[in-house]
Amino acid sequence: MRRSLVVGNWKMNGTRASSESLAKGIVAGLVSDHADIAVCAPYVYLPYIAEVVKGTELALGSQNVADQASGAYTGEISATMLKEIGVTYALVGHSERRSYYGDTDASVAARFKQAQEQGIIPILCVGETLEEREQDKTFSVINKQLDAVIDLVGIASFDAAVIAYEPVWAIGTGKTATDEQAQEVHYYIRQYIAAKDQVIADKIQILYGGSAKPDNAKGLFAMPDIDGGLIGGASLDAESFLKIFNSI
Ligand code: PGA
Repeated sequence: MRRSLVVGNWKMNGTRASSESLAKGIVAGLVSDHADIAVCAPYVYLPYIAEVVKGTELALGSQNVADQASGAYTGEISATMLKEIGVTYALVGHSERRSYYGDTDASVAARFKQAQEQGIIPILCVGETLEEREQDKTFSVINKQLDAVIDLVGIASFDAAVIAYEPVWAIGTGKTATDEQAQEVHYYIRQYIAAKDQVIADKIQILYGGSAKPDNAKGLFAMPDIDGGLIGGASLDAESFLKIFNSI
């Protein structure tokens, strides 16, 4: 049985005080370790949240990581820096990064590689836009996003990675994929990996993201190839995030 994972993506929200109190609220409400749980805080709050989660089941994640190891890259944050703070996971290729900040398939693959080289587990986000779905391009878009990483680091690297399927049209829109729509793509991703390595395909956690909420999480998580969620809006409230976690 694969262990499930629920990850909160706080995006660019909150203050130091509200972030600390959110993390404390989650830690206080964690009564069972039936699945893995993490929060991806804004970079500047990571050291503070690291203090809150120390010694608890709540793991720390970043929302991105630089595609280079070190050097003259003004404004970037390296995997080494994140590792030093105690980061376990790093999102790479979130659709907001891809669409607003120009993260390309190639740079996402480089970020994935940088994270792994420091022992940070990359959470590779993939997913199609509404236009791509309507043009029946969902699977080809996902192939391209996965291939960029597989070509750079090899399929074996997925042994220490997580994939998040996030249909762009469902992110922050209140429009969730149906359980079956999500399952169809998760199944597709797992088969795509299985064609290259069956053992990794059976093991890898594939999360769903896109308007997942306490009232729809149970149905999504009950699907055979959905191993948890990447939660945006609903992770900004400890109670709703914990409800999602507990619906696994
Ligand atoms: P949402 O965001 O849950 O607010 O749709 C998900 C994400 O962007 O990871």
